[in-house]
Order: sequence, then C-alpha cells, then structure tokens
Amino acid sequence: MFDYKPDASLDTPERYRQLCGAADALTQSESDAVANMANVAALIWEFVPDLNWAGFYRIGENADGAEELVLGPFVGRPACIRIPIGAGVCGAAVSEAKTQLVEDVHAFPGHIACDAASRSEVVVPVIRDGKVIAVIDLDSPEPARFTQEDAEGVERLAALLSARI
Ligand code: SME
Repeated sequence: MFDYKPDASLDTPERYRQLCGAADALTQSESDAVANMANVAALIWEFVPDLNWAGFYRIGENADGAEELVLGPFVGRPACIRIPIGAGVCGAAVSEAKTQLVEDVHAFPGHIACDAASRSEVVVPVIRDGKVIAVIDLDSPEPARFTQEDAEGVERLAALLSARI
C-alpha cells in the first residue's frame, strides 16, 4: 500500500518537493507510461488542494495524421478527448512549448471548458529531446488558484516524468 497523505500545513514549494519525491518513487522502476501517468494524476490530486481536474494529455494523431493532444489518465470529471495543437490552454502550452498560468479561464482566448466549474488553470508541457510529448493540466474552481510556485512545482514534475511517460 502507498500512503502519501501530505500534511495540510506544508508550504507550496515543500508540497511539490514531496509530490515529486513520491512521483519519483512510484515511477522510477515502471516502464508503462499509462500506469505512471495514472499514479501521478492520483498523487497530484492528493498533494495539491482545491483542484477539480488533474491529469495528462499526450501528443497523438488525428485521422489525417496531424498531431493533436489526446486525453490521458486524469482525476476529475470526464473531459474533452482531443484538442488541436494551438487550441485552448493545453494547445497553447504545446505550440509555445511553455507553461500557461491562467488566473481567469474565461479571459483566455479559446479556453476549452471541459468542466464548467473550472475558473483557473495551469498547464505545463512535458518535453523530451526538445519536443513536447504531453502536457500536465491542473484545473481549479477557485479564481487565480495557481501561482508561480505551482507552475515551478509542476515543471519539476514534468522534467522528472519526461522519460517515464
Ligand atoms: N481547459 C483546457 C482543456 C482541458 S480540460 O480543462 C481538462 C484547455 O483550454 O485546453
């Protein structure tokens, strides 16, 4: 059994340090990408408060062979399955290869509302060999829930996972 309940009093950097430690321990000797993403989505849910969605989209292909994001393991309500590169917050994280920290999703041009309760969002690209292979997406029902410290914590998680998903 894995028992990774974080202490409620942790500050944000320490919370992400412990989350990354748990993610490292759970994924380091497992080669199955789906298993690793599933466990990490569950860990994010345990460690990061005030979320309504946490999970992965991976680069896949549409019927014409063009790249697009395809839903991966997550915790939360059922979500949009496919997102074109450049569309919404997730698609922007891929086309810009850059973290998107969105305080108000309603103000983000093209935001894709998978859960109407979402108010703020952070999306971090997972980069392997210089190419975006996936994104990690965290949504919150609270406006401006995520800070630069959250973005940096999720970026560390993405770096840790880049060869494991
Ligand atoms: N809001 C995202 C779509 C994914 S869901 O939030 C799970 C976006 O605009 O790309």
